[in-house]
Amino acid sequence: MTDAERLPVMFRHFAEQELDGYSARYAQLARFLTDRPALARPLLAAPRSQQRAILLFAAVQYLLRTSAAGHPLAGYLPVLGGARPAGEGLTAAFTDLVATHRAELAELCATRLIQTNEATRAALLRPGLGRAAELVDGCPLTLVELGTSAGLLLLPDRYAYHYATPDGSRTQRTGRDEAPSPLVLGCEVRGRGWPEPATVPIDVAARTGVDVAPVDTADSDAVTWLRSCVWPEHVDRLETRSTTSPTKRRGTWSTCSPRTGQRATWWSCSTRRPGSGRAGAGTAAGRGGSAGRARRGLLTLVAW
Ligand SMILES: C[S@@+](CC[C@H](N)C(=O)[O-])C[C@H]1O[C@@H](n2cnc3c(N)ncnc32)[C@H](O)[C@@H]1O
Repeated sequence: MTDAERLPVMFRHFAEQELDGYSARYAQLARFLTDRPALARPLLAAPRSQQRAILLFAAVQYLLRTSAAGHPLAGYLPVLGGARPAGEGLTAAFTDLVATHRAELAELCATRLIQTNEATRAALLRPGLGRAAELVDGCPLTLVELGTSAGLLLLPDRYAYHYATPDGSRTQRTGRDEAPSPLVLGCEVRGRGWPEPATVPIDVAARTGVDVAPVDTADSDAVTWLRSCVWPEHVDRLETRSTTSPTKRRGTWSTCSPRTGQRATWWSCSTRRPGSGRAGAGTAAGRGGSAGRARRGLLTLVAW
């Protein structure tokens, strides 16, 4: 089967298995493209492994945030402030945008990767970090994340967490007291357990992220692309990403992928401890600590 022949199969798969129930608009567009694969041809410019519906949709969103700003399609995408419901107007506007920006879309598909960073996952990691802190009597922790993207999961002490049972009969808020609402990460607790250790205070001594294609939050174009990868109805995810912005030092991690010879980049994040007016995690790798002196932490977290 050629790549062009695979397109309708791939769009049907995404419509039925990946998007249905999660994004009404993308699911509708994927179903639409199943019957009109010629419209999706810009995606063929991407390497085969990247020829996925969500890459084309991210490229479309990126154009709506840049050269195609003001196009009527934006009116259907809540992440861009659009309030129109999915429907015939959505597919008509999508068709027009693709027809008028084919070359730009192909260029984006050829050069960009789907890139995500889901801060909400920190709500799942936080109990483990609390438990680790408990085990070492409050010794500072050192965080290392493989596949860190923009590094949002390296900031578990900057979020507040709201755990709740599905029926709301038990709720608990913990973490950073003064966190603004986009940084209050919600987590539904199912089953009989409760994430008790999430309430144990943690002290983060250092944070290191490793990634083959890291997102530099100081690079506005990279951030625009990251935002473009958010599905249209997931406005809350967009808000969390906008509110969290680690600053970082950069280096190269040369042993990341010996099989492919790929070199990854590491980040050392530095963040100011909220409200304290002093450096909390240190301003650079190996120079952590409120007084600028070296601090050692317990190596705790490896997330992918
Ligand atoms: C799905 S994202 C997850 C980002 C983040 N950990 C999160 O949960 O939000 C996966 C990340 O892994 C990175 N990645 C994939 N393969 C890698 C490799 N071999 N070495 C380092 N990073 C890799 C990607 O660039 C991407 O940023």
